[in-house]
Amino acid sequence: MVAQENTRMRGKGQSVKLIEIEWKIRFSYEPAALPPSLAAQLRRGPLYFGKTLYISKQGRHPASHGLHPLSNMVAKTGAVLSEALSAKSYNEYVNPQWVALLNLLDMNVEYEYCSGCELFTKDGRRTLDFLSGYCVHNAGHNHPYIVNALKEELDRSGPAMLQSHVPTLAGDLAERLCQLAGGELRKVFFGSSGSEGVEAAIKFARATVGKPNIVYAKGSFHGLTAGSLSLMSDAFWRDGFGPLLQDTVGVPFGDIAALEKALHGGRCAAFIVEPIQAEAGIQVPAKAYLQAAQELCRARGVLFVLDEVQTGLYRTGTFLAAQRFDVQPDMVVLAKALSGGLMPVSAVLMKEKVYRSVYSSLKRAIVHTSTFSENSLSMRAGLATLEVLQKEQLGKHAMSLGETFRQKLCQALSPYGIVKEVRGAGMLNGIEFRAPKKLALRALYEAFHRIHPAMFGQVIVMRMFREKNILTQICGNNFMVLKAAPPLVVSEAQLDEFVEAVRSVVELADTSVAFWTEALNLAKRAINI
Ligand SMILES: Cc1ncc(COP(=O)(O)O)c(C=O)c1O
Repeated sequence: MVAQENTRMRGKGQSVKLIEIEWKIRFSYEPAALPPSLAAQLRRGPLYFGKTLYISKQGRHPASHGLHPLSNMVAKTGAVLSEALSAKSYNEYVNPQWVALLNLLDMNVEYEYCSGCELFTKDGRRTLDFLSGYCVHNAGHNHPYIVNALKEELDRSGPAMLQSHVPTLAGDLAERLCQLAGGELRKVFFGSSGSEGVEAAIKFARATVGKPNIVYAKGSFHGLTAGSLSLMSDAFWRDGFGPLLQDTVGVPFGDIAALEKALHGGRCAAFIVEPIQAEAGIQVPAKAYLQAAQELCRARGVLFVLDEVQTGLYRTGTFLAAQRFDVQPDMVVLAKALSGGLMPVSAVLMKEKVYRSVYSSLKRAIVHTSTFSENSLSMRAGLATLEVLQKEQLGKHAMSLGETFRQKLCQALSPYGIVKEVRGAGMLNGIEFRAPKKLALRALYEAFHRIHPAMFGQVIVMRMFREKNILTQICGNNFMVLKAAPPLVVSEAQLDEFVEAVRSVVELADTSVAFWTEALNLAKRAINI
């Protein structure tokens, strides 16, 4: 059915908005006739797929109420419709491929309320968050203390982004960050994203050392702006965006001899590395590796820079992962969790000598800056987040529960040949899979892997979400590793819920041909999209 309609919609008693709707509407009275992933999605609410809006009438034909399907829809589902409209706009004006991917994976649900580790949809479904927005939600979703701090900041009507004053909150946050980091990190540059922090670190290292090369560890994720992307080896992220920065050199993570070779020749400004590679598959190095890397850098006059965008803010137990490895970097990049999950903010902590090389004179006081840097809401979010993390001792909590969690995971998953390893630190954990040993399953797995290497992990993710109400993901640069990184406020009962959920999904994958048949169907649908 194709309909054109002009509708007046009132948003929560405020302004009246005239919305012109011109779309294709398909009423489906038999969701079962749709592909299974869409049918299940449709039962939960309106669904955009391609350019079509699907609305389930929950099995009841509107004609049975004597209503025209459209008027029924408009009158009875006004709220749903307004959300559907914004979903339609997203689909049309932002990123339809993202919508299609979420639909395919059966993960396109409408979250309404999020708190702590729990996400609730309108229909009352509760999902446990074991992704934390890739380590954004260390303090838990919508922590009331952080929310209140932001409300207070707004109510204050104070100066924001004047670009002509000294933002005192930025001073407070910088002081706090330096105290917590310890060592010689004494100055802070604020930005709005992890990538922006990495960009700053690249520039600052070059300014300090006066050399061009930046060495990075292969498999890292440092962000998708051009400079940060130049420090990532994975072709998936790089392809089509070149030429990137020329003077970057990738070395295998954990390989000190390769690092030594790369630092040789006197052209290096910095070695930038994640202390624990997150997207590479939660790769936890030996303490000796990071310490030797630091020594090498010192000996060569190269800056040792840690990207702690995921590992920082107590994610691994200590404020910085650097502290658990006993290293003292020249610069540290923080982002994600500093936001409290609410306001974008990143911070580059650096030694005095780095600061002095960049901002070396009055003339250069603003030589590296950014419009949203030091904005009061972000600074408030950062300060409130640090308070929550400390007052609730979430680092300690992450450290002790993380240990128990990994033990329980190992115990629960040890019977299944498909699980290669459980590893991690604090609440940054990964479960690594491998091909099934049983011949019948192995053939299916291999067929599947040939279609797309990420498919296997995505089926696990999909089942965890659809059947166990747990949100998680595979690592961005290692599709065989499933993440288990809940907000640090996670309880032992919630961790146990995850352990049992992943155990039962893994059991299916390790034993059931039906699991793989469904997986193959998903793969076929993915190809058809
Ligand atoms: C370790 C690391 N560094 C940097 C970034 C980039 O951060 P952003 O997405 O905020 O630019 C990410 C993002 O996931 C990351 O994981």
